[in-house]
Amino acid sequence: MSMLTVSNLSRYFGGLAAVVDMSFTVEKGEIVGLIGPNGAGKTTVFNMLSGFIPPTSGEIIYQGRRMNGLKPHQICELGVTRTFQVVQPFPDMTVLENTMIGAYVRHPNTTDAKRKALETLERVDLDAKADKLGRDLTLLELKRLEIGKALASEPDLLLLDEAAAGLKDTEIEDILTLIRQLNREGMTLLIVEHLMKVIMNLSHRIIVLDFGKMIAEGTPQEISQHPAVLEAYLGKDE
Ligand SMILES: Nc1ncnc2c1ncn2[C@@H]1O[C@H](COP(=O)(O)OP(=O)(O)OP(=O)(O)O)[C@@H](O)[C@H]1O
Ligand SMILES: [Mg+2]
Repeated sequence: MSMLTVSNLSRYFGGLAAVVDMSFTVEKGEIVGLIGPNGAGKTTVFNMLSGFIPPTSGEIIYQGRRMNGLKPHQICELGVTRTFQVVQPFPDMTVLENTMIGAYVRHPNTTDAKRKALETLERVDLDAKADKLGRDLTLLELKRLEIGKALASEPDLLLLDEAAAGLKDTEIEDILTLIRQLNREGMTLLIVEHLMKVIMNLSHRIIVLDFGKMIAEGTPQEISQHPAVLEAYLGKDE
């Protein structure tokens, strides 16, 4: 049994088909990349997988359990956590307090949640900034906090939506190292990213969306030479 099985998943916004009849699996221990041009439907897929919006049709099965209709916090409790492309921590709460929100998922006791949050902040290299307010963070700190908040809930399947977007090369290297380390420790990841360097380096397998439809699936090597993918990214004439 696959860890995650998505069958015939679709989402319409009025007449707009954001995701159309998408079927794929994620196996335990994998890093799967989800790519596609702007507006292809990647974040909409994450919104459905994490319970933020319901699918129009189709089914999401995680560890043998149907996830459709569950609330985000229930999905998080089952072990699936996502990060947000547009990072929005609580501005008047500290880095530590923001991270504790994630930690409370498995540690209802404040002392335990705080310990878990501090431990997580070390992993994302934010422990020195634990007392800084959400609204005072740099982009790099925001990106790290976003991953930290998600990690604090101890997911088995982590959905990362453009975790490295906007960062400098050396900062991206740090995130690559962290993702590889998490994967080695047993975490399964589904990652959305525009940076080909990140996707090609990390993914065991890549799924390509274009206008809501899955147009290709394969290893990084296969995807980089796939005619439909090149066309989606470069246009027909190039
Ligand atoms: N809540 C919404 N209401 C209406 N339309 C939406 C909504 N969310 C997404 N869309 C539309 O659905 C399509 C897919 O959007 P989505 O954000 O999933 O794309 P994406 O692949 O994540 O793009 P990007 O790479 O720019 O982040 C777009 O046309 C978008 O405008
Ligand atoms: Mg998006």
